[in-house]
Amino acid sequence: MQRVIISGIGVEIPESTITNDELVASFNDWIDQKNVALAAAGEPLLAKSDSDFIVYASGVKNRHVLVRDGILDVDRMAPRIPARGDDELSVMAEFGVKSAKRALDHAGVDPASIDMVICAASHQQRPYPAIAIEIQQALGTSGAAFDMGLGCSSAAAGLHVATSLVRTGAQKRVLVVTPEIITGHLNFRDRQTHFIFGDASTSMLVEGLGEGKSRSGRFEVLDTRSWTQFSNNIRTNFGFLIRDGQENPSVVEMEGNMIKQVGNKVFKEVTVAAHRFIAAFLADHGMTPQDIRRYWLHQANGRMNAMIMKLTLGHEADEDRAPMVLEKLGNTAAAGAIIAMKQYHEDMEPGDHGLLCAFGAGYSIGAALLRKM
Ligand SMILES: CC(C)(COP(=O)(O)OP(=O)(O)OC[C@H]1O[C@@H](n2cnc3c(N)ncnc32)[C@H](O)[C@@H]1OP(=O)(O)O)[C@@H](O)C(=O)NCCC(=O)NCCS
Repeated sequence: MQRVIISGIGVEIPESTITNDELVASFNDWIDQKNVALAAAGEPLLAKSDSDFIVYASGVKNRHVLVRDGILDVDRMAPRIPARGDDELSVMAEFGVKSAKRALDHAGVDPASIDMVICAASHQQRPYPAIAIEIQQALGTSGAAFDMGLGCSSAAAGLHVATSLVRTGAQKRVLVVTPEIITGHLNFRDRQTHFIFGDASTSMLVEGLGEGKSRSGRFEVLDTRSWTQFSNNIRTNFGFLIRDGQENPSVVEMEGNMIKQVGNKVFKEVTVAAHRFIAAFLADHGMTPQDIRRYWLHQANGRMNAMIMKLTLGHEADEDRAPMVLEKLGNTAAAGAIIAMKQYHEDMEPGDHGLLCAFGAGYSIGAALLRKM
């Protein structure tokens, strides 16, 4: 069995931003329009959104988006991402390639020496040909590529798969690419979820310890683990049978088929599940939560992470122990914990342990126990 390391991490954060105030102003303009019609029909009015609520309830103040154009337009409220021809690089592959190139630069590795690409993200732009194969072609990697998804735990689950493949010697170098264009599938007219998400792309290069040059400063992957339990509390119904369920099959109805969640149930249930998962995972390695120098948790909600840390450590954790990138980026789905790791690891000493842990739709949880080299 090979010892496995993460030899490179790449992050791509799009330049465009949207503040809470901008998002709420557009949402409330739409509500005003909608309520005129509802009032005329004698129906109950819809409630407005509120920036202060968003900061208090989630911790999000701002988000970066791949395409800002169209999102704030009350007549559209969706990013304007023109369709591309079949012979052009797809939007998702392009976003993935950007973070992948950064991960390869970070690792100092030639693309041809990578023998597998996994595109692990919460949404895939199409079922086939796999986005991962398009990324494989654009980068010039060898071997094979495939897509996989596990909601916001996708990157952690991709790391679980990649680590297992490298550990057993089945693959030499696996690139786990996580391009999250979550605004492309977000219902900006849903008060419960319109403020939560932002876009980002991350990539991790996973290889055997003996594969490359000196790897000091990188992280050895001591173990990985995934857990799932079915829940409808975070769900999208968009899929290939949508046409067939509609009266008029030539019109695809999006309303009701985008991301929806029962946020407060997710909050309570996943907080407890994540705490139990972390405690059990560490105990199986003869470790306590105190032994972990840094936690890179999924970036969905600041209060939720604070509660997970309090349950797990028995006291509150500061930003140094469990850093957050949510405030400026929003919830970037599976990319969030990887961004936290990329931004907050350089001060760690050789031998320090870190825990990467993501959670979300499924329900799902995925984690990696890491040691700084
Ligand atoms: C989504 C989330 C921020 C909502 O926060 P919350 O405190 O649970 O909010 P609730 O849904 O219980 O609603 C509380 C109140 O705020 C109101 N509210 C909801 N959205 C609002 C908005 N955009 N603006 C103003 N008020 C809002 C509700 O109507 C409710 O009002 P009421 O008490 O008068 O009924 C939070 O539940 C969350 O982050 N959950 C976890 C999500 C997650 O981890 N997802 C995982 C992976 S992606």
